[in-house]
Amino acid sequence: MKNVWVLYNAVTEVYSKKTKDWISEAAVQDEVEAVCTHLKTLGFSCTRYPLLDVRKLIHDLSSPPPLIFNLCEGFRGKANYEMHVAALLELLGIPFTGNTAKALGIAQDKDLTKRILMASGIPTPRWMTYKGGDMSDYFLLSFPLIVKPAREDASAGIGRRNVVEDKESLFQVARDLFEHYHQPILIEEFLPGREFSVSLLEIHKELHPLPISEISLKDLEKDGPAIVSYEAKWIEDSPEYQLTPSICPAPVSSALGQTLRTLAIETWKILGGKDYGRVDFRLDREGVPYVLEFNPNPDISLQAGFPKALNAAEIPYEEFLKILIENNLSAKEFLP
Ligand SMILES: Nc1ncnc2c1ncn2[C@@H]1O[C@H](COP(=O)(O)OP(=O)(O)O)[C@@H](O)[C@H]1O
Ligand SMILES: [Mg+2]
Repeated sequence: MKNVWVLYNAVTEVYSKKTKDWISEAAVQDEVEAVCTHLKTLGFSCTRYPLLDVRKLIHDLSSPPPLIFNLCEGFRGKANYEMHVAALLELLGIPFTGNTAKALGIAQDKDLTKRILMASGIPTPRWMTYKGGDMSDYFLLSFPLIVKPAREDASAGIGRRNVVEDKESLFQVARDLFEHYHQPILIEEFLPGREFSVSLLEIHKELHPLPISEISLKDLEKDGPAIVSYEAKWIEDSPEYQLTPSICPAPVSSALGQTLRTLAIETWKILGGKDYGRVDFRLDREGVPYVLEFNPNPDISLQAGFPKALNAAEIPYEEFLKILIENNLSAKEFLP
């Protein structure tokens, strides 16, 4: 029986339990369980490999498995090391599923991603990046604005107070986030329209957009800014979580559906996607879609958006894993 490894960021109290971001970090374990359970039904044996010590990993890889499922979202609690794990596997010439170091690194830097999108003519909300100090320039943007860390994901640091209507709140939230996350902060024009995601899957080198999903925000709009905050994503008993159901396939006109799929594919190509990923969108007041971000390592635990889109496309989870295996075991591009 072939053995594959499922590599993931070890979740330890030392690195993550101090903050509430711990909940989203720990969620990688649900992905590991989903992947291992379904690999077994495909006839693979599966080694769970929590990554904590790189030297040990390099040592253990001296007799490498044929394939690694790379679910690492960072290293030792740091999301910006996500790309380094993939880079190490690339250097060692070991086939692995998911995105390349380059795509992971670009997407992890939202400012860089947005610059690339803008230069490529893909609409993304107008923004500026705060790196500490004076804030007088930010008034080139129109309120309301949303303030968010430039190098996090999973809505870390994003609550409803991050949508600001005036200078004072903008300063306050931007400074708080800068002090807490020690990284550039995006200040972006807030788009009040519907929110969509397009999951993408490569099958034998051909890119397939899966059915579009929508996060319904209409019940949230009644009492404040409608966003998918950290609470909405992770805190199951919060009102935000309960008021933001996801719907897949989303009810969209064929024209809007086509535009979203086209923009998602263009985003994927420009940022160099591989295997699977998800592009998130928001519509402006006029219903025009803008790309918020590219997720090259989306949550693939069973309850998450990507598997829901697989389900809507009638692709069983095992089949998804089989596609990833076939995509990579014949791949030559990772050989040193
Ligand atoms: N410019 C924006 N306009 C409206 N909502 C936004 C905007 N940027 C982010 N949001 C809201 O915040 C959520 C998280 O933002 P996002 O940029 O996708 O960060 P993350 O990587 O943490 O998911 C989005 O799903 C959306 O609901
Ligand atoms: Mg997002």
